[in-house]
This record gives sequence, structure tokens and C-alpha cells, in this order.
Amino acid sequence: MVGDLLVEVKDLSKNFGQTKALKKVNLKFFAGEIRGLIGENGSGKSTVTSIISGMQTATSGEVYFKGKKWKPESMSEAQKHGIAMVLQEANTACGCSVAENIFAGRFEEFTKFGIVNMKKINDEAAKMLKNLGITNIKATDSLDKLTFEDRKLIEIVRCMTKDVEVCIFDETTTALSHEGRTILYKLIRQMKDEGKCVIFISHDMDEIMEQCSYLTVLRDGEIIGHLNREEMDENNAEKKIRYMMVGREIGDAYYRADFKADHLDETALEFINASFGNVKDLTFKLHKGEIIGLGGLSSCGMHEVGRAAFGIEKISKGKVLLFGKDVLNPLNAIRLGAGYISKNRDTEALIMDGTIGENIALPSLSDISKFSYISPKKERDLALAQIEPFRIKCESEKKLVSSLSGGNKQKVSFAKWTARNSDILIMDCPTRGVDIGVKQFMYSLIEKMKKEGKAILLISEEMSELIGMCDKIIIMKDFKISGELERSANLKETDIIEYMI
Ligand SMILES: Nc1ncnc2c1ncn2[C@@H]1O[C@H](COP(=O)(O)OP(=O)(O)OP(=O)(O)O)[C@@H](O)[C@H]1O
Ligand SMILES: [Mg+2]
Repeated sequence: MVGDLLVEVKDLSKNFGQTKALKKVNLKFFAGEIRGLIGENGSGKSTVTSIISGMQTATSGEVYFKGKKWKPESMSEAQKHGIAMVLQEANTACGCSVAENIFAGRFEEFTKFGIVNMKKINDEAAKMLKNLGITNIKATDSLDKLTFEDRKLIEIVRCMTKDVEVCIFDETTTALSHEGRTILYKLIRQMKDEGKCVIFISHDMDEIMEQCSYLTVLRDGEIIGHLNREEMDENNAEKKIRYMMVGREIGDAYYRADFKADHLDETALEFINASFGNVKDLTFKLHKGEIIGLGGLSSCGMHEVGRAAFGIEKISKGKVLLFGKDVLNPLNAIRLGAGYISKNRDTEALIMDGTIGENIALPSLSDISKFSYISPKKERDLALAQIEPFRIKCESEKKLVSSLSGGNKQKVSFAKWTARNSDILIMDCPTRGVDIGVKQFMYSLIEKMKKEGKAILLISEEMSELIGMCDKIIIMKDFKISGELERSANLKETDIIEYMI
């Protein structure tokens, strides 16, 4: 049973220049519910929730919170009065401690006679971390030391102040590891039981179906419909939701249809007894025309392997070779034919202040320039050739990447390597935050690349993706290879889990 009406959105519209991100949206959110929001990339999910959380203001329309008009000046003001949000983009500050990040903007609560009581801040933060079951992070740790996933956990902790009655999670799980997801799922159920309202945005249908008590579907800035728990449990629910999202049938076929593990003879990427960071003595080969998947718990070292293959990690022992040559640094890796989609999209994969066209063209500059002069026509053609198949939702290639929705940013970080026609693609969670239609497109593209003889290293937290796409799955545990599985029709997620934990 849901409780009182907490938030009401009335005729809310938001325009960004020509783009109508929200068109007279009406929504109600209640106490004691976990409300899912689902919709294609660019459908308006982040926009509507960021207006509720005080991050943005509406062009027209109103929001009410507990019956009163709600127009917070900022996110910290919104949180003080009961509505918090974990943004889709990374939102922590380097150069500060974990505790300072948790209490950013709230130091006055710990200040007496002009002196900030840091001990109290640290103690309070430590308590909050403990309450959430986060044991590997200390309040006094420097944020710089933390992994991408752990930083997201800090953002979650930041929202857990006692006055919060509505908490919004915007695709938070795509940044989290398996362990982090378990923590978040437990937390949202607890919040629901305490009579709070959780608004949960995700593209992961299984997760939505499992976690949410009610689901709202958006398309092109409008509310298309809602499903209650009973309707979500019906047999054809997923198909129905997909149809509501995109306005046309989307088939179930996602992954490769064949179950044959094969590759060409030539080696594209090779690790020979390589040590870097915490990873020791890693040895494996990726051939042309092969898709190798890397899986494991997030802290197993798999993300570091991707970074080492692209020359970001310093190799302390052994060798990492691309087509037989040592990888020295990312620029050298690009010259040797490699591309790398970082999981950390906002700070490692994209130049936010650059246009979509510039970002797509970045790795290909040598191909489109002559005597240090970049051909604007070639740059434009290169971008347009990617914008269309990836369905990057934008007014033009001249718009800044920072104006794109999260999933559309992800498409750009993939597209810049297809534009470059890289021979080896190292992909760390490439389908992060993209909607089902685009996911399907990305998988067919990966399969096509394999057929063209390209080599792919697919690092993924999604076991179904590893099973569905890879010729071979390498599973890592504690920075070492713990198992290898060949492509087969009989492969199950439990086979992978066995080697993971
Ligand atoms: N700051 C901005 N400037 C210009 N356009 C914007 C801005 N923020 C969002 N938009 C546009 O508004 C529309 C809705 O974007 P929004 O971020 O709400 O989508 P979303 O449903 O959250 O998508 P995703 O699943 O990709 O995160 C998109 O077309 C997007 O390009
Ligand atoms: Mg979004």
C-alpha cells in the first residue's frame, strides 16, 4: 500500500533552445513506493527529476511537495527540506576527503564560534558509511584514492540525511559494481519500508522489474503510461514496456545467434606475464576476429586490464603488446590501432566543452587534416556518419557534448572509435546507460566488427552480455585470472559466478 502524495508535478515543460525536453508533464509520487522511470535516451527522465531536486528550473508548470509549491534554489536546499538526488553524472570533488564530500555544503551544521568541528564531521560520516554496510572506505580517506564505483557510493551516502523523504537515483546502478548494487537495492527497500519515496531511473529492465513497485514510461518528453506491480508481473510486460518506450516493436534478439567460438590466427593484443597496479603476471592473447570478455567483481582488476591495454597503466613487469609492439601510452596505442571506451565517461572519455563533432573526430584528426589544418567538411562528414546510425539525439553536430543526455554521451564515446575504424577496441562497460534500442545496435556493431576481423576486449559487469557476445570469457578474482569459459549454448550465469567469488 502506498501512502500520502508527496510530490506532484503539474504541466511541467522544459525547453533547451529548440529542444522540448519536457512537454506538459503531469506526475504524482507517493510515500512508500519505489517508482521506476524508464524511457529512451533523451526522453526527459533526468530533466524532470533534476527540476524536482533543485538542479534545474522549469520553463513552465509547477511542482508541489507535500501540498506546497516547491521551487528550491539549489540541490542542497532541496535536500535540507526533504528531496535528494544522486545525479547521473559523476558528482564528487577530488582533493577532499570522503567525509568532506559527504557533507559538502553543510559545514555550517558543524560550526560553532566560527570553528568547523572536523572530528564530528568525520565521526558522522563514518557512522553513515557503516549504516550502509560500506566497510572498505574510511571517512578520512582522500577521495582521489577511491575507484569510480566507490565514488558513486559516496554520492549515495551523501543523500542519506535524516530529513530526506524523497530520494532520486538517476542511473546510479550503471556506475556501481555488483557489490555496490546489492547495497543500493537493500537501501531502497529499506527506504520504502520507512515510508519514503524512491524514484529509480534505469535502462535495465530486469532491475526495474525486480525493484520497482510502480513504473512510469516516458517518450520524447511526455508520459506514455504507467504499470502497477500486477501489470509488471504479466508475461508480456517487458514487450509492452519496450513498445511504450519506442513506439514500435523491438525484438527479443539481442546477442549473437551463433554459438561457435572462433577467431583469425593473427594476435592483436597480448599480455605476457604483465604486472601493473595490483595485477600480477597476467598472460592472455586476443586475436583478430575475436571477442574476449573480461568479467568479475569490480575490484578484481578487470578495469585496470583495459587501462593497461591502452597504455594508461604503467607496466612494472612483463609485456603488453599491440600487434607485437609494446604499448607505451594512449597516443601510441591509438597509432597501433587501438581504441578505448572508458567506463568513466565524464572525465576520461569525453571533452564536455567540445562539440559532438569534435569529440567524434578527436582520434581521427590525422586522417582529416593536412599540414596541421583540419578539414571542417571532413570533420562534419565523419560526425554525421556516426550520428545517424547511433541515433545520437542532438540538434546538430555543432552542439556541445555537455548538452547531451547521459545515454547520448555514451553513444559519442563509442562512436569516436568506430569513426576511427580502430582494429582493436577495448570496451569498458560500453552499453552503460544506453536504451534497449541502442544496446541492440551496439551489439550488432560489435558482431560486425568481429566479422571484419577486428579484435574486441569487452569488459563488463553484465553477465548476460558476456555470455551473449564473447568467444571466450576470462574471469578475474583478486587481480588474477580465476577461470576461462569458451562460448557455448549451455553457458549460464552461475558458471561465471563460480569463478568470481
Ligand atoms: N543542458 C542542456 N542543454 C541542451 N539540451 C539539453 C540539456 N540537458 C538536456 N538536454 C536535452 O533534453 C532532452 C532530454 O534529456 P534528458 O537528459 O532528460 O534525457 P534522459 O531521459 O535522462 O536520457 P538518458 O537515458 O540518455 O539519460 C535531450 O534531448 C537532451 O539533449
Ligand atoms: Mg538521463
